[in-house]
Amino acid sequence: MEARLRGKVVVITGASRGIGRELALGFAREGAQLVLASRKQAPLEAVVAEATAAGAQAIAVPTHVGRPDEARRLIAETVQRCGRIDVLVNNAATNPVFGPTVVADETAWDKIFEVNVRGPFVLCRAASERMIAQGGGAIVNIASVAGLRPMPGLGIYGISKAALIHLTRTLARELAPTVRVNAVAPGLVDTDFSKPILTDPEIRRMALADVPLARPAVPAEIVGAVLFLASDAARYVTGEVLVVDGGKTV
Ligand SMILES: NC(=O)c1ccc[n+]([C@@H]2O[C@H](COP(=O)([O-])OP(=O)(O)OC[C@H]3O[C@@H](n4cnc5c(N)ncnc54)[C@H](OP(=O)(O)O)[C@@H]3O)[C@@H](O)[C@H]2O)c1
Repeated sequence: MEARLRGKVVVITGASRGIGRELALGFAREGAQLVLASRKQAPLEAVVAEATAAGAQAIAVPTHVGRPDEARRLIAETVQRCGRIDVLVNNAATNPVFGPTVVADETAWDKIFEVNVRGPFVLCRAASERMIAQGGGAIVNIASVAGLRPMPGLGIYGISKAALIHLTRTLARELAPTVRVNAVAPGLVDTDFSKPILTDPEIRRMALADVPLARPAVPAEIVGAVLFLASDAARYVTGEVLVVDGGKTV
């Protein structure tokens, strides 16, 4: 993979912690130029400092991806400050509710769809416009195995990730041959996001019961799949969903 991402301008949302932070450091090690986004500035600046220490050029652009104006500004500022955009990683997501789907109210539905689906859509639209103008680019959407199979307690979140997967496949067709669009679907990953599942012994046991590798992933174990899909090593891959789930959906 060395040199295949060197100098590429890479935008990563949700980059301040968890999987997004590891992605930032992974792309930094590959020599990419980073534009990192999430809502809170201070933790984002800490990741910028880590990426810079790893030898990368990196900037922070605080962004709420559920706000279309801010999402558009993220891409505009990337182009203004870096001159282009080669890779967009839609990683930011939210899940404010656990439990039966029909118990959740429409406020939760709207919030989840704003951040998990509409945000990536607005970002894909703005980024692809620029990618087409410059002659190429790659988008990687971070989905979930909950978007491939219904998972108890994760109803609306799973539905939003299924929509993100369909957005991925639709855009892969519509934006070809100039822009490749793929997704990575992680299983359970040990981050703040999965704390409600991993800290309750009974829920943890149930969530891992059908995972052949018998543990959650650590965030670094998601990075290789994203680097691959973002790089020229995947130049003939588009519309694909790469599952990284320890075998859960096998
Ligand atoms: N952890 C898992 O088990 C798991 C499994 C499958 C898929 N995933 C997916 O992996 C991705 C990353 O999850 P994670 O586990 O790394 O989560 P995490 O540790 O909770 O990190 C979430 C990141 O997203 C940012 N974020 C949240 N809402 C945002 C918004 N509205 N606008 C911009 N940034 C926002 C957060 O920073 P701020 O709070 O500062 O905005 C943070 O940087 C998500 O798409 C998630 O659905 C996770």
